[in-house]
Amino acid sequence: MTTTSANQTQAGIEDELVERVVASFADTPDPRLKELLTSLTRHLHAFIRDVRLTEAEWETAIEFLTAVGHITDDRRQEFVLLSDVLGASMQTIAVNNQAYKGATEATVFGPFFLEDAPKIDLGGDIAGGATGQPCWIEGTVTDTDGNPVRGARIEVWECDEDGFYDVQYDDGRMAARAYMFTDDDGHYRFWGLTPVPYPIPHDGPVGKMLAAAGRSPVRAAHLHFMVSGPELRTLVTHIFVDGDPQLEIGDSVFGVKDSLITEFAPQPAGTPTPDGRDLGERDWARSRFDIVLAPEGI
Ligand SMILES: [Fe+2]
Repeated sequence: MTTTSANQTQAGIEDELVERVVASFADTPDPRLKELLTSLTRHLHAFIRDVRLTEAEWETAIEFLTAVGHITDDRRQEFVLLSDVLGASMQTIAVNNQAYKGATEATVFGPFFLEDAPKIDLGGDIAGGATGQPCWIEGTVTDTDGNPVRGARIEVWECDEDGFYDVQYDDGRMAARAYMFTDDDGHYRFWGLTPVPYPIPHDGPVGKMLAAAGRSPVRAAHLHFMVSGPELRTLVTHIFVDGDPQLEIGDSVFGVKDSLITEFAPQPAGTPTPDGRDLGERDWARSRFDIVLAPEGI
């Protein structure tokens, strides 16, 4: 039949192009790079052929990626955001953090980590002027055999009560982030803020994409952790707030895991604090998060 023949011819043209592009990478010296480029070519072409991408849609995609690049700078990372809302960040984490014994589960890194957060002593306050309900957070860092990890580095970062990270303000402030080291018994403790739900930045191209899809930009309330120790797999994770209604509605970057949902126990004003800090008439909360690190290379 003519139609079948025409389709075969068309498919043959498309197949031949894929193979020519794949062949162009045949002499890539780095075998891993060769694998990545070859697989990318096959998947990208399969996508274009699957949806029969129009030229107008191709142009829109180029314009979109250009806009993602234009809005990205040292303090705003729209590419990470795009990866997050597509679930690509969580999939990469799933591939690279296979479950191991009782090791704490990982979740998205997000776009708001800064390299140069201040160091605090154990029991210090990370708020740095950020507003919100004070929250005492403590726990241990151990390996999967239960041995305490002394001197583990713990980075924590979170938004303020208005749902904004310091980097989202234009005044260059650094707040609600810090790092500390565990003590000889693997313990850590600090004052932070009780996490609140917040929308990911949605005034840019990623926000437009979410709106076009009818998706909410809101993330479930969380506090970020990055924990590292010698010969242990670095853990990037969050703790989520048990009872947060957003857990039911859904997290815009697919980051929630049941094992990371943590009780933040409300403490009425006047309740004595663990370190004797005087909070006056303010209520506060407390939470415990024990962290288990997998061995390096798992
Ligand atoms: Fe976050």
